[in-house]
Amino acid sequence: MDKIVIIGGNTLNGSVKVSGAKNAALPILSACLLTGGWHRLHNIPHLKDIETIKSIMSELGVVFRDGGEALEVNSDDLNDCEAPYDLVKTMRASILLLGPLLARYGKARISLPGGCAIGARPVNFHLKALAAMGVDMFLDRGYVNAMVDRLKGANIIFDIPTVTGTENIMIAAVTASGETVLKNAAKEPEIQDLADMLRDMGADIEGDGTDTIYIRGVRDLSPARHTIIPDRIEAGTFMIAGAMTGGEIKIESCRPQHLGALIEKLKSAGTRVKATGDSILVKGSGSIESVDIETMPYPGFATDLQAQFMALMCIANGRSTIKETVFENRFIHVSELKRMGADIEINGNQALVKGKDRLLSAPVMATDLRASASLVLAGLVAEGSRTEVHRIYHLDRGYEALETKFEKLGATIWREKE
Ligand code: EPZ
Repeated sequence: MDKIVIIGGNTLNGSVKVSGAKNAALPILSACLLTGGWHRLHNIPHLKDIETIKSIMSELGVVFRDGGEALEVNSDDLNDCEAPYDLVKTMRASILLLGPLLARYGKARISLPGGCAIGARPVNFHLKALAAMGVDMFLDRGYVNAMVDRLKGANIIFDIPTVTGTENIMIAAVTASGETVLKNAAKEPEIQDLADMLRDMGADIEGDGTDTIYIRGVRDLSPARHTIIPDRIEAGTFMIAGAMTGGEIKIESCRPQHLGALIEKLKSAGTRVKATGDSILVKGSGSIESVDIETMPYPGFATDLQAQFMALMCIANGRSTIKETVFENRFIHVSELKRMGADIEINGNQALVKGKDRLLSAPVMATDLRASASLVLAGLVAEGSRTEVHRIYHLDRGYEALETKFEKLGATIWREKE
């Protein structure tokens, strides 16, 4: 296992290019199962989770090849429909294979994704919606076994807006017979990016980005040519790094319109933020003001930026309240931040952060993807000797060479073998 070592206190300056969005690439790769031929996908990020879904898809018979600037994907010869536990347990998003396998193949056997550090992460909304589309399924020994002659369009209302639930059903509905209407659908930019890719394949989809999505089944699809949107969570992580270290960072190749809630909160915290076209300039000010946040489905404040923003509030003036409404256990980073001197009290789904003048370097442990990013951010400003973030395989799931990108911005940071 690797660890990241940081000597804190440097001001970060310069520009950084954001990679493609992990949470767009995962459903888009899964949707390549819908039809044969060579799909060409640009801006696929080089991440552990991407390698995981490619491994599972290769087991199903999908062929990947390097198309120069693009990743090329071919699912002409699917030879299996099972996603095994040993791979699914490392990445819950494997449930996204269920919809396309049922659409293309009429059957699927997917290991139920277990919970993870941030919550139980059930998939009941996915299964309930597929049942409404005519799928017969039974659970046995941790696997969902599903079969259907042909998916049929249905009217589906999600109890809460589920991102991968919306994506799974959108993909399943593309070649179903009749129309599917998804109500209380998730509105994240990654949903719209998936819809754009599916439309490029010939799908008939409207309403993506709103809470009601209409998908009218079509007979034929052709392979996609698509470029993945930039990763808004990676962009937000660098924005917060600029605010924390007091430097000036230009985040390039991003979509400012996907980061409205964070931009608002950073400005309230006293950070100067200037958004233009496809870049955002962040200039940390000498002092950071405390700001309350409450995580919400998009376009509200992203739960995937909660841990990173908390690191910022740990060195702000005054007290802030951070309310996590999406996941039931997404404060695991708190105990690690407290090891670095942070003053945080948890009360149910709220964390009360009392800002301190400084954080102190310490050995800490990553527990989930975004908690890892939060600890790296804290390490960048921590005083004393060195901060070591252990178990950073969590970080590598969702960030492409994060330490290298921070080093280029002026941080004293490197990766070591445990
Ligand atoms: C997606 O997870 C993202 N992952 C998560 O990013 C992100 O935090 C989350 O959406 C919320 O924005 C991917 O896109 C691969 P949900 P997902 O279904 O789809 C409950 C990261 O760090 N729920 O929108 O799994 C669920 O427990 C990851 O990149 C059910 O109860 O999240 C949660 O409380 C972490 N039953 C809420 O809904 C279901 O069937 C929202 O979950 C589905 C969800």
